[in-house]
Amino acid sequence: MASIEMKNIVKKYGDGFPAVNDISLDIADGEFMILVGPSGCGKSTLLRMIVGLEDITSGDMIIGGERVNDKAPRDRNLSMVFQNYALYPHMSVYENIAFPLRLAKTPDDKVDRLVKEAADVLELHEHLERKPANLSGGQRQRVAMGRAIVRQAEAFLFDEPLSNLDAKLRGQMRTEIARLQRRLGITTVYVTHDQTEAMTLGDRVCVLRKGSIQQVASPRELYEQPVNLFVAGFIGSPPMNFLPATVDGATLTTPFGTIELDEKRAAAVAGHELLLVGIRPEYFEDASLVDEAKKHVGTTFTAKVDVTEWLGDQQYAYIPYDAPDAIRTQLRDLSRELDSEELRTQAIVSIDSTSRIREGRDAEFWLDTRKVHVFDPETGDNLTRDAEAGAELTRMATEDREEQVAEAAGGLTGERSGSGAGTGSTAA
Ligand SMILES: Nc1ncnc2c1ncn2[C@@H]1O[C@H](COP(=O)(O)OP(=O)(O)OP(=O)(O)O)[C@@H](O)[C@H]1O
Ligand SMILES: [Mg+2]
Repeated sequence: MASIEMKNIVKKYGDGFPAVNDISLDIADGEFMILVGPSGCGKSTLLRMIVGLEDITSGDMIIGGERVNDKAPRDRNLSMVFQNYALYPHMSVYENIAFPLRLAKTPDDKVDRLVKEAADVLELHEHLERKPANLSGGQRQRVAMGRAIVRQAEAFLFDEPLSNLDAKLRGQMRTEIARLQRRLGITTVYVTHDQTEAMTLGDRVCVLRKGSIQQVASPRELYEQPVNLFVAGFIGSPPMNFLPATVDGATLTTPFGTIELDEKRAAAVAGHELLLVGIRPEYFEDASLVDEAKKHVGTTFTAKVDVTEWLGDQQYAYIPYDAPDAIRTQLRDLSRELDSEELRTQAIVSIDSTSRIREGRDAEFWLDTRKVHVFDPETGDNLTRDAEAGAELTRMATEDREEQVAEAAGGLTGERSGSGAGTGSTAA
């Protein structure tokens, strides 16, 4: 296992286009790092440079403390798990997992031991004699991971491994990959454009836009303290709402009434004429369901509801609002860049599933104003970001990870030295 350090990595393809533009990123030993961003932002290119399938135009790629720019892929000892798992259909699961060991002319008894250990971890024991064609998509993925495990690779690299699967299987595989990565403690870099995968799998997430890093942080920091409009709009589903606002002292005027900012945030937005206020759907509530005692930390307003969606455990209401042309254009461009349909000039608000708010009528809403962020529409910068609070969230996530990895390592060693082989899936 190894850390991966990237220093000022640039990739220019033949036509001079910088697909990856000056990326510096440190991935810790055992960390699960996600590369996320819209199509064409350079995710696959970056991953392929780590494995060695793509030349690096400039910068340093350092794996396990050693510069590998000029090393061939096979000498980097990394394991890439592709979307189409590249299993050999005529070989049994056992031989598929054993494949890299056979290539390396490993003695039979060692092959047998490594394959069986991997099969234990992956719960593939009862399938070892079967052919890949007879396995489920999830099982096939595990076989591919088994092959990576027996090679004792320094790191796992995944490029959108789940994008071909249906939603249900994708959910299962997501959990499975997360669990395995924790148990094995292998450094992992995982490319996706799916923000749900990014949020649920990663210790940290690196958000890319047009070949450049926007923000690297724990999922929670990205969600609570995004650096700009792009990250704020990308992370979260349904996405953050962006309302136009004007400012006078500490008072923001929005289409949904006024918002009072605290001193620190008021100072941060002073001097701007037009602003964008970022409000997550869950900061809203049906005003009739909010405790009187709590109401004073927010603001109450009346608006006409266009559509409601009742989903059983929650409910969404869509509220259209007016925005100046400049903001309209800005939001449309952002929405196009994010490959999203949803950042239109209507707010999506999440309200309690018991709410009786109905479509086509005026309703009273309450908005918790404590967590709203204010953005500069010109630059996209988050003017009210609390960098310290954000760093604290990522620090906590890193601590949790280190604890989990230590526990998992203890569990695995216990299993190996223990008497019964068993499946030993409890690592605690
Ligand atoms: N072989 C190539 N020659 C020239 N340009 C390329 C080549 N491969 C990729 N590019 C360009 O580099 C940029 C980044 O491509 P890359 O495949 O890394 O994007 P991506 O983030 O993985 O996107 P997706 O989500 O669609 O897979 C794109 O603009 C793409 O057109
Ligand atoms: Mg790609």
